Amino acid sequence: MTDVVANSTSHLSDADLQAMAAYLKSLDPGQARAHQADAERAGATARKLAAARDLSLGERLYLDNCNACHFVSGKGAERVFPQLDGPRWSPLTSRTRCCT
Ligand code: HEC
Repeated sequence: MTDVVANSTSHLSDADLQAMAAYLKSLDPGQARAHQADAERAGATARKLAAARDLSLGERLYLDNCNACHFVSGKGAERVFPQLDGPRWSPLTSRTRCCT
């Protein structure tokens, strides 16, 4: 992540950051949803990003810059790349302290 922050995300414009944040916030936290509904939603998101058609700016930026590690579903990989989609991540509990 250090390389991503140093060479990529630290150079994003405010508009790009807002677009990506809007996309990530559009992903429902899934906390109150049944596992099945969560899986279907993640599947729909993954299919849309994988098709790479009619993407919003935030979706495109996420696909181009984050997908390689956190994947189109935002689920990441257990103990390697943290999950971004869901209740587990919070800026208050994150181990990642960017730019301090
Ligand atoms: C090269 C792989 C890679 C890419 C690409 C990447 N990340 Fe990460 N990301 C990681 C890793 C590894 C961590 C965990 C770092 C740590 O715990 O110190 C992480 C952590 C994070 C965290 C903190 C999660 C937590 O629970 O602490 C956020 C938020 C995040 N990434 C967002 C993004 C966004 C947004 C993008 C695209 C702009 C992106 N990442 C691109 C590998 C990547």
